[in-house]
Amino acid sequence: MPLSVRELHPGFATEVMGLDLAHPLPDATVADLQDAMDRHGVLVFRGQHLTDNSQIAFARLFGPPERYVLSYRPGIKLRLAQPEMVDVSNLDAATGEPQDRNARHRMVNLGNRLWHTDSSFKQIRGALSMLYAHSVPPEGGETEFGDGRAAYDRLPESMKQQIAGLRAQHSLMHSRAQLGFTDFTPEEHAALPPSQHPLVSVNPRTGRKSVYVASHASHVLDMPIPEGRLLIADLIEAATRPDLVYRHTWRVGDLVVWDNRCTLHRGMPFDESYPRDLRRVTTSDVVTSAR
Ligand code: OGA
Ligand code: MN
Repeated sequence: MPLSVRELHPGFATEVMGLDLAHPLPDATVADLQDAMDRHGVLVFRGQHLTDNSQIAFARLFGPPERYVLSYRPGIKLRLAQPEMVDVSNLDAATGEPQDRNARHRMVNLGNRLWHTDSSFKQIRGALSMLYAHSVPPEGGETEFGDGRAAYDRLPESMKQQIAGLRAQHSLMHSRAQLGFTDFTPEEHAALPPSQHPLVSVNPRTGRKSVYVASHASHVLDMPIPEGRLLIADLIEAATRPDLVYRHTWRVGDLVVWDNRCTLHRGMPFDESYPRDLRRVTTSDVVTSAR
């Protein structure tokens, strides 16, 4: 049976209806969802009832879940037990209440307000991210997605030629340093060394190209640093023009899945006295990163 879908943004984000993701899915449905991911880049599933375990199990259908970056700090107490669960909430691990303004977890998560791709700073970069809403504030706190494929298609031919074959260096510490946050231990630096990835990402199943840039990208290899940073800024701008952006307004029970290899995203501000409990699982791009 074909998927029941509703386009949310032309050529881009699409809602998939009628699936209960808390239970095992037939292989044919998983294949249809993979095709839909390749076509749309962002898929929205509403009205789900996921536990952390069922969210991880759903992610595993598409690839191995990666480990949460904050788990590398020695002695850290995390709110969510499984190392695959990324805590995107504004909640304190000890009290479960909205966290202090200066909490380290908040400082790291504030970096999500910059346009980025998840885990581009890893050697094996992030593939699909799956973000699920347990509680949401009454207003604000949307997540915006930019279409890197449409951005690539629109680039002038000269720009496509200029960026073909170029690689950028990515680092979590670079994106956080842009906001003035540098509190990382030697263990975290050692566990998360910079990575290098092509500026153009190619979907191996469809051949479709996308710009692949992010706030984690610090410079372009073999290019003067200021020149590379300007190129990165231009490409981020190209991928986030208002007509290429889908803004997701969260409801409890939403699962949004996006392909980090061809989209950018960012979180929007909200009144942080309200709980916003969003939890993410991201799969590792074991296929194309290994090339
Ligand atoms: C993420 C992320 C943005 C948000 O989960 O990777 O960037 O709106 N989230 O919380
Ligand atoms: Mn993110």
